[in-house]
Amino acid sequence: EQRHVIDATLAPLKLSTAQLEEVKQRMRKQMERGLHKDTHMQATVKMLPTYVRSTPDGTERGDFLALDLGGTNFRVLLVRVRSGKRRGVEMHNKIYPIPEDIMQGSGEELFDHIVQCITDFLEYMGMVGWRLPLGFTFSFPCRQESLDQEFDLDIVAVVNDTVGTMMTCGYEDPKCEVGLIIGTGSNCCYMEEMRNVEILPTENGRMCVNMEWGGFGDDGCLDDLLTSYDDSVDKFSLNPGRQRFEKIMSGMYLGEIVRNVLIDFTRHGLLFRGRISERLKTRGIFETKFLSQIESDRLALLQVRSILHELGLESSCDDAIVVKEVCGVVSRRAAQMCGAGVAAVVEKIRENRGLDHLRMTVGVDGTMYKLHPHFARILQDTVRTLAPRCDVHLLQSEDGSGKGAALITAVACRLGRPIK
Ligand code: BG6
Repeated sequence: EQRHVIDATLAPLKLSTAQLEEVKQRMRKQMERGLHKDTHMQATVKMLPTYVRSTPDGTERGDFLALDLGGTNFRVLLVRVRSGKRRGVEMHNKIYPIPEDIMQGSGEELFDHIVQCITDFLEYMGMVGWRLPLGFTFSFPCRQESLDQEFDLDIVAVVNDTVGTMMTCGYEDPKCEVGLIIGTGSNCCYMEEMRNVEILPTENGRMCVNMEWGGFGDDGCLDDLLTSYDDSVDKFSLNPGRQRFEKIMSGMYLGEIVRNVLIDFTRHGLLFRGRISERLKTRGIFETKFLSQIESDRLALLQVRSILHELGLESSCDDAIVVKEVCGVVSRRAAQMCGAGVAAVVEKIRENRGLDHLRMTVGVDGTMYKLHPHFARILQDTVRTLAPRCDVHLLQSEDGSGKGAALITAVACRLGRPIK
């Protein structure tokens, strides 16, 4: 009886291959909408041009500055890129905390602070007065008009973190033409044919498109696959109705989905002796690392119970089994959804190039991918199933924001544009 109720409750969170196939096709449709000039403005998957026209080819060389503005820290890097026999990337960096008042203050104050940090860094490196090309990474949605923007610095490439990820992996593997972030949030970019980027003047060649795929589903096109748990997570989030795809998949939300399922189970008397504690009612108690820990196969049930205990939830052995199962179902769906998205992307690239078969590397970064014990494998399996004509290799990226920003700048310099 109990098993029956558990299965029935979890059923909407389990997706069939047919449903995932459907997700892939819908993503493909939204990608087209984002690329076409008459539908671009209303598209939920924005498909933003990044002005990055090539991945690295190994001939890039020179010294570059990179800026990485994270949540609380700001990092300045000097990146030395060498070609030829000594081909490689050497990095030096210094971290600068951003004081609370500046973080909350105006953009101008923040920018002044950044300039001070760069000045300090150049002093520290003994490079005062050098004017180096500079790349700046950000990990929030931002529509760009060009690769460089108006700062009083030599060249500035403003870079989305997905692009940094693609470029970092692209430096090691020329087949890498997709960048994927699956961490706190989720997003993807890939090399699209210029002729398909309709909002720009027709040109030959390719350009990296920042999909901003987190917004997939914001027009309701995933509603039939979403659950009441997704709806309540969305409702109490900072941006209700938005980033619905991201909210199924990424670290910031998975713990909340799990918590909502657990509340439902408890309400049905299937957990915690039917008692919904204040603790369980508290939003945000399950961080990403919680799922990763609970789902580790090396963990004995007793350890699962002690993790729950640390969270303030007293569990029996049976409770621990159920909690682990819920975590597994929620993270599996996340990895599968992500896989359906990746399958749509690589299939589009394959068709763009008129190939029967495509070999493609996807550069990946983010804590969900790196730390979760099963996410990477399920993602890989799903892509294999949904894009059988593509041979996709997932490559873990290191420091896409720092190294990637410098490499984008290096490639722009190699191509001789855009230089002011
Ligand atoms: C980092 C990259 O390692 O991963 C960043 O350098 C990226 O560019 C980040 O934004 C995403 O991961 P998470 O899990 O920290 O959100």
